[in-house]
Order: sequence, then structure tokens, then C-alpha cells
Amino acid sequence: MSRTYAYKPALAWFAAIGSAWVFVLVALGALTTTIGAGMAFPDWPLSNGSVNPPGWLTEIDKFAEHSHRLSGVVMGLVTIGLAVWLHLREERRWLRQLGWWALGIVIFQGLIGGKRVLLDSIGVPGFDMTLGQMLRLPHGMLAQVYVCVLFAIVAGLSRPWVTDTIGQASRRVRLLGGLCLFLLFLQLAVAVTMRHNYAGMVIPTFPLSTPDGHLLPAYWDYRVVLQMAHRLMAVFIGVAIAVYGHYLWRDKGLHVLVRAASFVLLALVAVQIFLGAKIIWTGRSVTMTTGHVVFGALTLATTFAVVFITQRSMIERPVR
Ligand code: HEM
Repeated sequence: MSRTYAYKPALAWFAAIGSAWVFVLVALGALTTTIGAGMAFPDWPLSNGSVNPPGWLTEIDKFAEHSHRLSGVVMGLVTIGLAVWLHLREERRWLRQLGWWALGIVIFQGLIGGKRVLLDSIGVPGFDMTLGQMLRLPHGMLAQVYVCVLFAIVAGLSRPWVTDTIGQASRRVRLLGGLCLFLLFLQLAVAVTMRHNYAGMVIPTFPLSTPDGHLLPAYWDYRVVLQMAHRLMAVFIGVAIAVYGHYLWRDKGLHVLVRAASFVLLALVAVQIFLGAKIIWTGRSVTMTTGHVVFGALTLATTFAVVFITQRSMIERPVR
């Protein structure tokens, strides 16, 4: 079987469906942490010693955790298929390497998830969290890096990329895109730390910080700082995406569909901020909180995909 640069519809669709599946996995993971079901089963890789543990279809915490594990297994199998398929058929080295990176990340991610369960009772001197609970942080962040890697593979395999119909982005658009991505990754780090320190509701009002209408909170501790940093970052991201979207739309060097992505990015950020507000207004409802985590992943990955696509000429030129 020979490796080619040509557009491969079957492989491109397989990667696209795989990257859609990742949101099922993220949603189940988000639901698990939102309802505090991470320890619904004390063992791993089996759940109560079984692949079909009693109660997982009737009890919400067992359902969340076990279906998260099962969807992770499916994701692992999809990623093996993707890496091997790319290895056999894809001429571009960087794309083959991305396939292996995706596989490495998904395996590592599964191991962190497993260790999070097995090390749950190991205390860490000086910290409120156990070692297992601490592992929720890298697990939450790496999940989003994995989604971005999948989106990069999908972009590289897509027909417009292969046939070079994306166009050339201006330097300003490329720089602004990089800035938005940086802010979103920073926001992710703040958000994961905040969420796993149970700081989601430390300020129970929004957009103001006290029930009697003050902009700043009545008291400060590290959890309040995390919550305020998350809110402030949302403002920066909203402005940055608006400016980026403006210049992306006006960049006539790019294909009109890439330019139109500016509206998608603006809509995603608006929905994300609205869902964040709804978490506070509903007292951390499961739907709003889980939705906010999933939309966070979607916002980051879509921004990443747009920025990646607009860097095409930089990515392809040195290797072909
Ligand atoms: C661009 C804007 C925003 C982005 C990208 C974003 C992203 C995220 C992400 C990814 C998480 C989950 C982290 C994890 O995986 O553990 C999260 C959590 C959270 N976000 Fe946002 N967020 C944004 C704006 C907001 C706004 C405006 C609010 C309003 C206060 C907000 C409130 C929250 C809360 C309360 C949580 C924690 C939920 C919990 O307690 O489980 N977010 N955010």
C-alpha cells in the first residue's frame, strides 16, 4: 500500500467522525466531575470488577463514570485506527506524526484517569486534595490538547487543505489567531484549577460580585482569585475573538468559508459566556455546568482549527 498526498475521503471522514466522538467522551467526563461521580467505582480498569457492573444503567453516578470509561475505550480504538491508517497511507510526515501523538496522548490520558481512581486515598501533605484528586487537573487539560490534535489531523486531511484552496492569511490575522489561542489555553488552565478546587460558586452572583451590587468580591482567598481571574479572562477572550473575527472576515486573501468561521467563533464565545453566567444563575445546574465544559472544549478546538488552517502555508512549505 503506497503513501500519497492526495485527498483520501474515507480517511478524512474517519478522522472527522472520530473527532465528533471525542465530544461524547468530553461530555461524559464533564458530567462525571460535575456530579462528583469520579469515584463511583473504586477499581480500574474494570468497574467493580466487571465490564458490565450492576447499576450502571440505572444509577446516574455509575452511568456517568462507566460510560465515560467505555467511551474512552472506543476513543482509544478509533485513535489506534487513525494512527495506523495515517502511517500506511499518508505521505506527509507531520500528519503521520500527529496520528502517533494522538495515540500517545489518548493512552496517557487513560492512564491518568485510572491513576486518579487508584490513588484517590493517598494524601499529599499541605494540600486539601489527595494525589488522585490532583490528577483531575492534568486529565482535564490534556483532554483539550487531545481534541486540538484531532482537529489538526481533520484539517490536514480535508479537501480544501490538500487541494490548497484555503488561501493566504495576512500576518495580522495569524498573530491575532495565535493570541486568541494563547488566551484560551490560559483560560483553560485557570478554569480547570478553579473547577477542581470547587471554586465554581464562591462568588454566587454574576456579572456583579456581591448580592448588593459591588463589582469586586466582599472577601478574597485563592478560590475567589481563581473565579475572578476566570471572569476577567472571559472579558479579554470576548474582546480578542471580536477583534480577530473582524480581521479574519476582512482578510480577502482567505477562502470565504474560512473567513465565515469568524461568525462561528463569535457565536461560540457568546454561548460559552452565556453558559458560564447560567452556571451562577442556576446555582450550578448539572446541564449548564456540563454544557459549559463541553462548549469550552468546542470553542478552544474550533479556534485552534481556524488558526491551524490559516497557518497552512507555514506548515506545508518546509516539508514538501
Ligand atoms: C470565553 C469564556 C470562557 C471560557 C473559554 C470558559 C471555559 C471554561 C472551562 C473549559 C471550564 C471547565 C474546566 C474543566 O474542564 O474542569 C469552565 C468552568 C467554569 N466556568 Fe467558564 N469559561 C468562560 C467564561 C465563563 C464565564 C463568563 C463564567 C461566569 C461566571 C464562567 C463560569 C464558570 C464556572 C462557574 C465554572 C466551574 C463549573 C463547576 O463548578 O464545575 N465561565 N469554564
